[in-house]
Amino acid sequence: MALVALGVCGGIGAYKAVEVARGLQQRGHDVAAVLTANATRFVGPLTFEAITRRPVIGDQFAPGVNAQIEHIALATDLDLLLVAPATANIVGKLANGIADDFLSALYLATTAPVLVAPAMNSNMLAHAAVAANLDRLAARGVRFVEPGAGYLACGWVGKGRLAEPADIVAAADGLLGAGRRLAGRRVLVTAGPTVEDLDPVRYLGNRSSGRMGYAIAAEALARGAEVVLVTGPTALEPPAGAEVVRVRGAEEMRSAVMARVAGDGDGLDLVAMVAAVADYTPAGGAREAKLLRDRDELVLTLRRTPDILGALGRWRAGRPRPVLVGFAAEVGDPVARAREKLRRKQVDLVVANDVSRPGAGFGSDTNIATLISEAEAEEVPLGSKRELARVLLDRIEPRLGEADTGAGEAK
Ligand code: PMT
Repeated sequence: MALVALGVCGGIGAYKAVEVARGLQQRGHDVAAVLTANATRFVGPLTFEAITRRPVIGDQFAPGVNAQIEHIALATDLDLLLVAPATANIVGKLANGIADDFLSALYLATTAPVLVAPAMNSNMLAHAAVAANLDRLAARGVRFVEPGAGYLACGWVGKGRLAEPADIVAAADGLLGAGRRLAGRRVLVTAGPTVEDLDPVRYLGNRSSGRMGYAIAAEALARGAEVVLVTGPTALEPPAGAEVVRVRGAEEMRSAVMARVAGDGDGLDLVAMVAAVADYTPAGGAREAKLLRDRDELVLTLRRTPDILGALGRWRAGRPRPVLVGFAAEVGDPVARAREKLRRKQVDLVVANDVSRPGAGFGSDTNIATLISEAEAEEVPLGSKRELARVLLDRIEPRLGEADTGAGEAK
């Protein structure tokens, strides 16, 4: 499951973009429709909203757009930007870096592959200005679905008709497929906090929102992996296509993870423990009755929770897989402690984040991290959690290959 931003421009072919959206969905992709102002003259946003089951993005400056699905957030999350139909106008804007609406700004803001399906009058298509713009885009790596020849809406006969929706969908799917480097891989990600109940009313928790773990699950899915997401309580919508196992406390998370590992351990290729697992839980478990407010001081006795990642490291010793990734939430320079965790927990990689830095750690959409392995420490500067997920999976992919050949069997 990948996220495709479908840019629709103001041409008669705009109605065919509805079929493109449906075709992409039938292939299992999530579609976010981005309509230019002129596109809405040809086809209504409601049609796309009903089909994609997502709000349609139109005006860049509409209230709400910048808070929720602003172009930067979509730009980092999407796996493909597809523009169909692409008019001479949008081709010109993209080629020349003009960002005067949501779609043209999205093009500049994303690093995802871009696929353009031009559609226009045949003389416009043949014009030197348009041809130069198309060449410029091609030189930048933009891919095209060639327009078809035949009877055009303007009454002319020639080249310029929007390619058939099925061909556009196949081209998009092909591009997405090229990025499906984790196809056939099985990945388990833990995310969010665990909460330790004190009584029927209160609990001990932490500030994890689940964003980091969900971003890794989404990226693994986009790369074609089968993903099990073991998640503590969060307010987030899990990425479509993941098998979601909802848990509450650390013990429940341990059972869910170990059941998967014991049942399917050799089949799992990667376990990423991103969850902020509680380190302590009330000794003796949650009280049945609500604690009364009948004293000035209350002393709680806590006991250590099981170290899930440590147990995974011990279990994995002598086996090539799964590749094990831990996170280290630290305050202050995280590297030394992360290195210690790497060794103690016998894992392949620890992602260290200093959660006291602005833009890093809990709750935010961004993070700053150092990827610590036995041999290296790689800084990943401030960027979206999805970007960090991309870098992380890029580094893990070669290790999966080593695990296949047994070359990674070091522990
Ligand atoms: O969810 P977000 O709001 O996006 O925030 C992201 C994050 C800050 C939670 C994330 O980036 C992060 O750092 N996750 C790990 C938090 C944590 O528990 O760190 P730790 O240093 O206490 O634990 C080290 C590792 O051991 C972690 O992989 C943890 O999942 C694991 N652990 C910890 C305790 C325990 N009992 N069992 C474990 O397996």
